[in-house]
Amino acid sequence: MPTIAVKGTHDLFAEEAEAYSYIQNVFKAASELYGYRPIETPILEYTEVFTHSTGESSDIVRKEMYTFSDKASRSVTMRPEGTAGAVRSIVEHKLYATNDAPLKVYYCGPAFRYERPGLGRYRQFIQAGVEAVGDDSARMDAECIALAMNFLKMLGFKNLVVKVNTLGDPESRAKYRDALRDYFRPHLGEMCEDCRQRFELNPLRMLDCKVPEDQEIAKGAPKMKDFLSPEAEKRFYQTLSILNDEEIDYEIDDGLVRGLDYYGHIVFEVHAKSETGSDYGALLGGGHYDGMMKEFGGPEEFDHGVGFACGVERLYSLMKDNNMLGDIDNSLDIYAMPLGEAVQDAMYLIVEQIRMCGYSCELPFHPGKLGSMFKKAERRKAKFALILGEDELEKGIVQLKDLAKKEQIEVKIEELAEKLDELFDALDEEEEEHHHHHE
Ligand code: HAM
Repeated sequence: MPTIAVKGTHDLFAEEAEAYSYIQNVFKAASELYGYRPIETPILEYTEVFTHSTGESSDIVRKEMYTFSDKASRSVTMRPEGTAGAVRSIVEHKLYATNDAPLKVYYCGPAFRYERPGLGRYRQFIQAGVEAVGDDSARMDAECIALAMNFLKMLGFKNLVVKVNTLGDPESRAKYRDALRDYFRPHLGEMCEDCRQRFELNPLRMLDCKVPEDQEIAKGAPKMKDFLSPEAEKRFYQTLSILNDEEIDYEIDDGLVRGLDYYGHIVFEVHAKSETGSDYGALLGGGHYDGMMKEFGGPEEFDHGVGFACGVERLYSLMKDNNMLGDIDNSLDIYAMPLGEAVQDAMYLIVEQIRMCGYSCELPFHPGKLGSMFKKAERRKAKFALILGEDELEKGIVQLKDLAKKEQIEVKIEELAEKLDELFDALDEEEEEHHHHHE
């Protein structure tokens, strides 16, 4: 009987679970600022959904998918990423037919890749992503990058680099692939088995081989930019000029090809290093894609999209390493302290009323010693303690103690809701002043 979680997966609880949910909330808020709406697609898809979009030549499809036959012998796959399922769903439900293209959706949920677990790499991880589908515009691409950057800013990230590159249109890419094959052909004998397969399937993949000797060879390879059609080049510079206007810092990285097959035109990745110097890889990656809807039987005129996805685990580790999680408010408003069994029932009802007024409140089910209840209140970062003994109950009052200021007051039970509103309003104001002070 195994007593540990599956290799490459992880449990989330306590502060870490709170931080994850905070990051996801900020992601939702940022996406909604840009007019994106939620979409949820199943974790399981028919395998072809990924082989025909993410691509036969990608590492993901070639060796990282959790694929199995279900009881009816259909091959199904636990999604390795969110784009294919989102686009499959958009086509299946003809969401593009409502005339309000582009369709802008965001999602956040588990994805699965059979990778070697390591720094920031898991086999089950949480991907938060967006897709804007159904329009073809340099502006739509730029807006997507702006959302990615502003989301990370909202989390408190500074000094991030967006690396951008263009993979051009299909004609530019076909020419480039030929040029890459010509370049790599004489070196094939010295290159790894994967690269020899990539040579056949998609030589672009050879550019981000992780084998050091192969990387050395790839350094001398021709560059995409020399094979761009004038239209593709113009399209790239249109997007970049919007980024310039918006003062988004970017770096053109002509080695950036991304690991999935569906991209064309602009691709991007956001990288960050932690203060301790460890590189978590890309925090976030994405780009433009054409032709994916057609794979699912959708109409050609809407067949363009752009999106990105980020791993919540990587955001979290970086935020943790750089002490960026301090501001997450995981405090409890009130910790209730019943002094003895005799007041427990009355306290239970008071606590229920407090919660319905909108204040979070925890009540121990078995009364303990006052000292130990104060310790628990401290661990839960409670703002107030609400103390009720038999004397208080008889008088129809409770003791309310501000745990930061160590001030205690008596409040009539029937005036408790009003008093709490007053106290919490005052707290909010103090907090606001504090913020002003810091700005
Ligand atoms: P991707 O670059 O394969 O792109 O993954 C996006 C992000 O997911 C990565 O930047 C990384 O933060 C995170 N990630 C990937 N693999 C792992 C892993 N094993 N463990 C932890 N985090 C991981 C895509 O998936 C595309 N669907 C992005 C996209 C959306 N392009 C257009 N629309």
